[in-house]
Amino acid sequence: MARSENGGRYRMSATPAIVMAEIFAVAAITLMLVSVLHFEGGISLKAANNSVRLFNAHFLFMLFGPIISTGQAIMAFKMVPGTKKARKIVHMLLNLLGIFLGALGLVAIFRFYKESGWTPNVPNVHSLHSWTGLGLIGLYVIQFFLGFTFFLFPGAKKNMRTDMKPWHVFLGLTIFILAIFTSGTGLIQRFRFLQLLRGREAFMLNFIGIDIVLFGISVVLSVILS
Ligand code: HEM
Repeated sequence: MARSENGGRYRMSATPAIVMAEIFAVAAITLMLVSVLHFEGGISLKAANNSVRLFNAHFLFMLFGPIISTGQAIMAFKMVPGTKKARKIVHMLLNLLGIFLGALGLVAIFRFYKESGWTPNVPNVHSLHSWTGLGLIGLYVIQFFLGFTFFLFPGAKKNMRTDMKPWHVFLGLTIFILAIFTSGTGLIQRFRFLQLLRGREAFMLNFIGIDIVLFGISVVLSVILS
C-alpha cells in the first residue's frame, strides 16, 4: 500500500485530544458527584448507619484513581512543562495516586459487602466486574514496580530501559483500557444494585459511562499523536 509523503504519520498535535480528555473528565466527575451526593446520600469509608455511602465511596475512588489519575499520568508526558525527569516524576506520582485510590476503592467495596447486609445472597467476587477489577489492580501494581525499577532507579542500564520502554507503554495502555472496561461493567452493576430502570439517575449513569469511554479514547489518541 502506498504511504503518504509524511510516512503515514498523523498530521495533528496531541493538544486537542488532551483538551477533549480534560473536558470529558470534568463532565464525568461532575455527574458522579451529583449521582452520589444528590441522589444516593453521600460518601463515607465507614458503614455506620448508611452503607450505601461505602458503595458510593467505591465509585468515587475508582473514578478518581484507576481512571482519571491513570489517564492524567499517561498524558503527563505531553502536558507537563520542564525536564524529562520532572515529567517522569509527575507520571510516577499520578500512577501512585491511581493505585492508592484504587486500593481505597477496594476497601470501600469489601467493607460494603461485609458490613451492609444489603445484599446477603450476593457472594464476593462473583461478577465479571470484580474479576477484571482485581486483575487490573494486580497488573497496575506490577507495572508500577517494573516502571520504577527500569525508569527511575538510577542503577538501571540504558539499553535495558530502551528495550523495556515499548512494553511499558503497551502494558500501561492495556491497564488503562481495562480500567475503562471495568468502569463500564461497574456502572451496569450499580444499575442492578440500585434497581434503576429509567429516570434522571439512570440517565446520568449512562452519560457517565459515555464520558468515561470518550475520556479513554481521547487519552489513547493523545498517546499516538505527537
Ligand atoms: C475501574 C476501577 C474499578 C475497580 C478496580 C473495581 C473493582 C471492584 C471489585 C474488585 C469489586 C468486587 C468486590 C467483591 O466482590 O467483594 C467491585 C464491586 C463493585 N463495583 Fe467496582 N471497580 C471499579 C470501578 C467501578 C465503578 C466506576 C463502578 C460504578 C459505580 C463500580 C461499581 C461496583 C459495584 C456496584 C460493585 C458490587 C457488585 C459486584 O461485585 O460486581 N465499580 N468493584
